[in-house]
Amino acid sequence: MSKEIRIQCLVPDLPAPADTLPYLEEMYSNRWYSNFGPLVRRFESDILSFLQEHNGAQDCFVGTFSSATTALELVLKAIHLPKGSRVLVPALTFPATALAVLNVGMIPVLADVAPESWELTPEIAENALSEKAISVVMPVAAFGKPVDSAGWAAFQQKTGVPVVLDAAAALGQQDILGELIYCFSLHATKPFGVGEGGLLVTGNEDLVIETKSLSNFGFQGPAGVVREIGTNAKFGEYYAAVGLAQIGRWQEVMDRRTAVLDQYKAGLHRAGNSVSLQQGTGNFIPAVFPVYAKGRAKALEEKLADAGIHTRRWYLPPLYEHPGLKGMEGVVNLEPASFPVCEDLKESLLGLPFHGFLTAEDTAEISNIVAEETA
Ligand SMILES: Cc1ncc(COP(=O)(O)O)c(C=O)c1O
Repeated sequence: MSKEIRIQCLVPDLPAPADTLPYLEEMYSNRWYSNFGPLVRRFESDILSFLQEHNGAQDCFVGTFSSATTALELVLKAIHLPKGSRVLVPALTFPATALAVLNVGMIPVLADVAPESWELTPEIAENALSEKAISVVMPVAAFGKPVDSAGWAAFQQKTGVPVVLDAAAALGQQDILGELIYCFSLHATKPFGVGEGGLLVTGNEDLVIETKSLSNFGFQGPAGVVREIGTNAKFGEYYAAVGLAQIGRWQEVMDRRTAVLDQYKAGLHRAGNSVSLQQGTGNFIPAVFPVYAKGRAKALEEKLADAGIHTRRWYLPPLYEHPGLKGMEGVVNLEPASFPVCEDLKESLLGLPFHGFLTAEDTAEISNIVAEETA
């Protein structure tokens, strides 16, 4: 039996009550709690300035939503494609990517991912277009690795197929181009955690206006008049209060996470070639920290559990193995053999603890166990 957990895999890093209190006081005196209130509007404005400063989001517009999942769903709706249109998604992702597609009556078409970066790339998508009629491509910032915005913009330009980026875990690190559409998550487990929430960022102002209207029952114009079939997926003032406080803590959060990554890089060095990190790690700070140990994920998981260390098999099983995800297709078919990279990653990826509260002793202990087990 596994030991009691001593080292958690993921610990949220959200503002202390005192940091949020001034905003909550403001909300209380405004007596305004939802429906695009003053704090939501200020958060949208401040996060846009933040994205302009940190991520090059020039000439962009921002909308807030109840989650990244609802942002993805509603932006897919706002693109106005016929029901049954096919959306290319990676088979290795958090299930919400496919759920958003299915919830709006479209068909997720699963593609395998690239072996080193573990993501859907423009090259993979171009090959898929030659196999199937794809109406939208939805790449994922896998495990928080920012997607290649320039590459996707070139793909969109060349093929004419719109790209909607599920960049759920990459807020703050994802460079942003106005011609693309980005959805981010503000879930508590994300590096930019707020609790619950989602963000849509794009250069298309009309698309943001329409998607926001869909998040408010499809109302537009005079109060209570439905222009198209929407839902209730609004962000609220409480979460905006946390979000405003979180913007001020971002550097501090990232400094902690950077230090942890550096400690791991030094510690995992001992494992040599038997353990590798996602391509480009260090150019970005991952949201979660899967390491690749060929065929050894399960053994490693057990060894770490015996030492009271919690790990996670993030994004696993691949989408084609979820019994409840019906109505999907593969680029070729849904047989595991059509996804050789996912099949390998399934046995080889293990998410090590990664959060800002790990000590140097924690990362050294984890790295030692990984090095010993994979030697
Ligand atoms: C890749 C990806 N897409 C979508 C989501 C869903 O985000 P939310 O919880 O804000 O709906 C997540 C959340 O973990 C995610 O990792």
